[in-house]
Amino acid sequence: MNSFLIESGNRARRPAVLYPFVGSKNTQYFKDIEVMHSLAETMVANRRKLLSDRPELKEKKDLLNALLLTRDEQTGEGLTDQLIIDNMITFLVAGHETTSGTLSFTFYFLLSNPRTYRLAQEEVDRVCGRKKVTVDMLSKLPYINAVLRVRK
Ligand code: HEM
Repeated sequence: MNSFLIESGNRARRPAVLYPFVGSKNTQYFKDIEVMHSLAETMVANRRKLLSDRPELKEKKDLLNALLLTRDEQTGEGLTDQLIIDNMITFLVAGHETTSGTLSFTFYFLLSNPRTYRLAQEEVDRVCGRKKVTVDMLSKLPYINAVLRVRK
């Protein structure tokens, strides 16, 4: 994925006339796409098999089950495998640097501001304690929300 993203950036900056002259880069680029695509394809096939062997796992609330099992309320249609695979790759690309970047900066600024760190920790201890963090807890974490939205 990283070499695909780097080359995607380079392709956007590279004049189209140079395309035929960067053969090995083109080959690697499409090889990277194929690796991501076939991995996602395997994950979809594995999950489909798992769900047919163990239907009770259809209750599991995760992103892959949502992509596989959700049906349009009006048409009753589900996503095609191609759309599921494209979304899986999009989520991976869109969700990895953003999340890791946000967490890195957040902890950098919390460590640089001990009082803020303590107040954030107190809020998490108060709202979540040792329990598994659930969606309904998020609206009860205004201080953490403010910390994530701070811009220097
Ligand atoms: C702290 C983490 C994140 C930040 C700051 C962030 C930020 C953004 C921003 C600014 C956009 C708009 C980009 C544009 O219009 O050019 C965007 C779009 C998107 N993000 Fe995130 N994102 C984060 C995490 C994630 C995660 C974890 C996922 C997937 C699981 C994700 C999936 C997407 C998708 C699919 C889009 C495109 C939406 C569309 O065009 O309809 N993001 N994100």
